[in-house]
Amino acid sequence: MSVTDTVAKILFIDGSSFGHDLIKTSFSRYLTGYHLEFVSTAEQGLEVIKRDHVKAVFVSQELPDMDGFELLREVKELKIQSPVIMMATDGAKRVAIKALKKGAEDCVTKSLKTFDAFPLILERAIFRYELNREMAKRDKLIIQSQKRWRAIFDAIVDFIFVIDDDYRLIKVNNTLAKVLGMHPKELIGKRCNELNNTIDVPDERCLKDVIKDGAPYIYEKNIGDDTYQISIFPLYDDDKPMTIHVMKNITEMRRLKEQLYHSEKLASLGLLVSGVAHEINNPLTGIIAYTELLGMSVVDEETSKKLGKILYSAERCKKIVENLLTFSRQKNPSKSLESINDIIDRVVDFRAYWLGVNNIEIEKDYDELSTVLVDSQQIQQAILNILLNAEQAMVDSNVDNRRIKFTTRYDRDNRKIIIKISDNGPGIPQNIISSIFDPFFTTKPAGSGTGLGLSISHGIIVEHEGNIMVKSPKGKGATFFIELPLAKK
Ligand SMILES: Nc1ncnc2c1ncn2[C@@H]1O[C@H](COP(=O)(O)OP(=O)(O)OP(=O)(O)O)[C@@H](O)[C@H]1O
Ligand SMILES: [Mg+2]
Repeated sequence: MSVTDTVAKILFIDGSSFGHDLIKTSFSRYLTGYHLEFVSTAEQGLEVIKRDHVKAVFVSQELPDMDGFELLREVKELKIQSPVIMMATDGAKRVAIKALKKGAEDCVTKSLKTFDAFPLILERAIFRYELNREMAKRDKLIIQSQKRWRAIFDAIVDFIFVIDDDYRLIKVNNTLAKVLGMHPKELIGKRCNELNNTIDVPDERCLKDVIKDGAPYIYEKNIGDDTYQISIFPLYDDDKPMTIHVMKNITEMRRLKEQLYHSEKLASLGLLVSGVAHEINNPLTGIIAYTELLGMSVVDEETSKKLGKILYSAERCKKIVENLLTFSRQKNPSKSLESINDIIDRVVDFRAYWLGVNNIEIEKDYDELSTVLVDSQQIQQAILNILLNAEQAMVDSNVDNRRIKFTTRYDRDNRKIIIKISDNGPGIPQNIISSIFDPFFTTKPAGSGTGLGLSISHGIIVEHEGNIMVKSPKGKGATFFIELPLAKK
């Protein structure tokens, strides 16, 4: 290995050897550590560049085999990671401008006056070139991380936005922009109160506290039909106070939590109730049997009437006990493949007489459904309880144009069947809606409702791994939704 291989090489591509000695002298005087190589044609120069690593290249404006600017273009095309300096034969400004435009790092006039300055020009060109390269690398990294950050920001399904202390939007993620039907950029600068109550922002004092304390503020808020958990974090940027708002839709989570709580409550109640019901069942059977026996031997009409009343009350008790046993799910379901549309038809047929008497019109909107594995008796019971409630609510409140609509849909994506039962009765007041599936919850007068109907329906649907929900927007009656999963593939 020669010495020249270990030191950085500076290549001069120059057709005229004028000044080469002076350049060498100048380098040896001012800048050591470089090996200078001189070639006289473009072809030789390109060969050296392709073969060796050169720290910098000086290209003469005029060459015997190629125009200097053309060579400059070819050198640049080789993508060498080194600066190129143009050597102009005259000092014309336009040459320098053209050279810089074509990618040269610098331009120097080749004259007796300038040879001494070559080492300095080289050092400056290398420094500038490396600085530019470093900056380009950083710019690339910044753009890359900005892109990555934006992708993450937009992938989050919660609403995220940043506002200044004037409630103006500084940043909005895609999820929120989509809901608002705009591009995130269109929303920048808009004030929060222009967004039709899609987002919630607390008062100024609260935002100031978040910024002052530096601690997040978390609260829950109902917006429309949904509940959101909103977290606010401070953001300090150039002394301008800002806050980051994250809105998480927790409606479903809340519902599941309530459902879980409800199922747990039902399970323990079921245990208790089934024990009591069994205990009462035997003496009750005795009362009924002996009352019937007594009734056969008694001749006096007054006593017979009284016995009849005992029998009626005892049988009512028996019915309640039976209901309690259904509620506590003592019977194992016997499942078979059934058509939900047929089950609904059977329930409606069963109530046809009373529906007619009470002037209630039945509407059906059925989807084509595949059969589901259910206990048809139980599903019938679950639907019947809902139908009975709708009938009773409409009759009791004396509404006109009484109508109960059954809708069935097949949700292909989630592989489930949805049954919708809606009435145009008085609806369910919001303050009791969360209790209606509770056992023994009733608004009916004593003696006319046990409050078990919906808890039985709930138990049956849960046992079928389904869901039962209710919605009752003010003035729009009540709508019950039953979801039943199809058997897993
Ligand atoms: N379609 C409806 N419209 C208005 N209120 C309803 C409707 N369905 C249920 N409810 C309310 O929910 C309560 C609970 O219903 P649930 O069927 O569990 O018991 P119940 O009907 O009162 O008694 P039971 O069904 O045991 O005879 C009812 O008392 C009523 O207040
Ligand atoms: Mg009922």
